[in-house]
Amino acid sequence: MSTPYSAKIIDGNALAAQTRATVAQRTAALQARGLTPGLAVLLVGDNPASQVYVRNKVKACTDAGLHSVLERYPSTLSEAELLQRIEGLNKDPAIHGILVQLPLPAHIDAHKVIEAISPAKDVDGFHVASAGALMVGQPGFWPCTPYGCMKMLESIGYDLRGKHAVVIGRSNIVGKPMALMLLQQNATVTLCHSATADLKAMTLQADVIVAAVGKRNVLTADMVKPGAVVIDVGMNRNDEGKLCGDVDFAGVRLVAGYITPVPGGVGPMTIAMLLVNTLEAAERDAAARGLT
Ligand code: GUN
Repeated sequence: MSTPYSAKIIDGNALAAQTRATVAQRTAALQARGLTPGLAVLLVGDNPASQVYVRNKVKACTDAGLHSVLERYPSTLSEAELLQRIEGLNKDPAIHGILVQLPLPAHIDAHKVIEAISPAKDVDGFHVASAGALMVGQPGFWPCTPYGCMKMLESIGYDLRGKHAVVIGRSNIVGKPMALMLLQQNATVTLCHSATADLKAMTLQADVIVAAVGKRNVLTADMVKPGAVVIDVGMNRNDEGKLCGDVDFAGVRLVAGYITPVPGGVGPMTIAMLLVNTLEAAERDAAARGLT
């Protein structure tokens, strides 16, 4: 048997801290030109996980010097009322990014809500215009989680050209945009999902694996080529109630070349990229207003 690898850990906390420090610097420079980036976060209902996520997002903004507002609404808020509020924020010059936390209550059509956000303020990158821009390689906002994964690959100096990247999971928020971003960097991309016939046959060929399913142990050591880079987007709880990803970390780290932990991997990067997108939206606004 060959010597097991001991995968290098890609530290999402450290990379996110670095990213946020750069955002803070650029925010200060923009402020000196008379513009403070602003993010509005809208939370409808009292989903406990969502409450934690939005609190973390707003705190990260404040820490980096951005203006942020958290608007909380009862689960009885009507779709029309939410659409009207988004219309107001679209016109608000102090707000550069609008984020409606998902999931929304069942009586509200999430697609309709996302499409109501001005693409210029769509810092989540969920609008059809943002998805289309990513697909055709035009400037637009990239969804924060796959964008953060790309930054993690960049941080280890990984050249994707000609490499085989396997993405597990085909969600609009992670899997599909992830595949497009990897493709843009000249990787050969395989997008696997619940109907994939032989997942292990695919992952064993991969130089890079991104697991984004939302289920424990989707990727185990026997499915990984020695030295591969493994990015874990999952956020699950194990039997003891502890946070864990989609990857069997203890096993896979002995085979992979690089691996991202959960917690402390992709999660902090998602928030950091939200700040980057909001700052970017504000910088575009400053340029459009001729603030130099
Ligand atoms: N719910 C879970 N992840 C996300 C996210 O990245 N953005 C929004 N708006 N809602 C989410």
